[in-house]
Amino acid sequence: MLTDGGSHFVTAMTLAALSEEPVHTTLWDLKDETEMGHIQLSREADLVVVAPGTADLLARMAAGIADDLATTLLLATDKPVLVAPAMNVRMWSHAATRRNVATLRRDGVTVMEPDEGTMACGEYGPGRLPEPARILAAAETLLAPAARPLQGRHVLVTAGPTHEPIDPVRYLANRSSGKQGFAIADAAARAGARVTLIAGPVTLPTPAGVDRVDVETALEMAAAVRATLPADAAVMVAAVADWRVEATGQKLKKGMAAAALPLTENPDILAALSRAPDRPRLVIGFAAETERVIEHATAKLARKGCDWIVANDVSGDVMGGDANAVHLINAADVESWAELPKTEVAARLIARIADALGPAA
Ligand code: CTP
Repeated sequence: MLTDGGSHFVTAMTLAALSEEPVHTTLWDLKDETEMGHIQLSREADLVVVAPGTADLLARMAAGIADDLATTLLLATDKPVLVAPAMNVRMWSHAATRRNVATLRRDGVTVMEPDEGTMACGEYGPGRLPEPARILAAAETLLAPAARPLQGRHVLVTAGPTHEPIDPVRYLANRSSGKQGFAIADAAARAGARVTLIAGPVTLPTPAGVDRVDVETALEMAAAVRATLPADAAVMVAAVADWRVEATGQKLKKGMAAAALPLTENPDILAALSRAPDRPRLVIGFAAETERVIEHATAKLARKGCDWIVANDVSGDVMGGDANAVHLINAADVESWAELPKTEVAARLIARIADALGPAA
């Protein structure tokens, strides 16, 4: 695909002749669009490589703008996206570009570091298009079967809070952001698993290639978990509300609350799953604790009957933050990890799961 900007440097004819492949240039090609050309293109690809990734294109991608064929395809694709940036050194280090790169990486896009050296504009620094061999290596890593140890596996992940309605305008909730669970779903998909992500009410973007089921309440989450089985592994990251309220159809008035809030305990989704006859081979719970973290989490492991517990101290700003210091606990031992970005916690946990499950038959 050649963008408008690109066509000022090379022609579609040159690219078509050299690649011996058709070159697409416009979103408004009538024939292609009656066949939903941009959707088709995004489905047929295994990987989308953006090279060169200009400052402008990065900004439009980060904002989700879809005003030409390239950006429309990038918004429509559920495949991995690799960006090889190329721009002036000061454009690369500008706060706006830093922000856009961070956003794209958070969205799951692989943005390479540009090469450093002399630029077309005569300046020196990072911003040069990575050498083709580096781009090729990055593409191969994203496609490599060796990096897909969960190929053929089905992984179930729950994430986010649940909302328990009190009346038509109010609900009980907690501070869970869903970030850790979404990062785990993303890492599992990148490792080649089929992933079902059962998400409570959060506005995070769905990781590429993940099947997402949105739920609101603990009861809905419990039903969605049942409906998702069988699975090879389940990672229950959601902060499920412990109680629900017998919701009333009418808005509660001042003074009515104390009498009108009888709490009923919600079912324990993790404990039920751990003891189900069709339980996944590996069932992993999370434990959010504010004190005596390892002791409480170890007790939870036994009580819930799961195989591992990932315990974290949520007394700071872990909920909603981007980093997490966790302990991985099983019946035999406790392993404490240093504070890591939630994406890195996810990648390590997925590597451990892949290791425990071994290759699929
Ligand atoms: N969990 C669940 N269903 C519930 C409550 C919790 O499946 N009704 C799961 C969570 O997804 C998590 C684990 O159990 O994997 C532990 O959640 P946590 O809130 O730490 O534990 P609780 O069982 O609520 O225990 P407590 O509130 O006493 O700490």
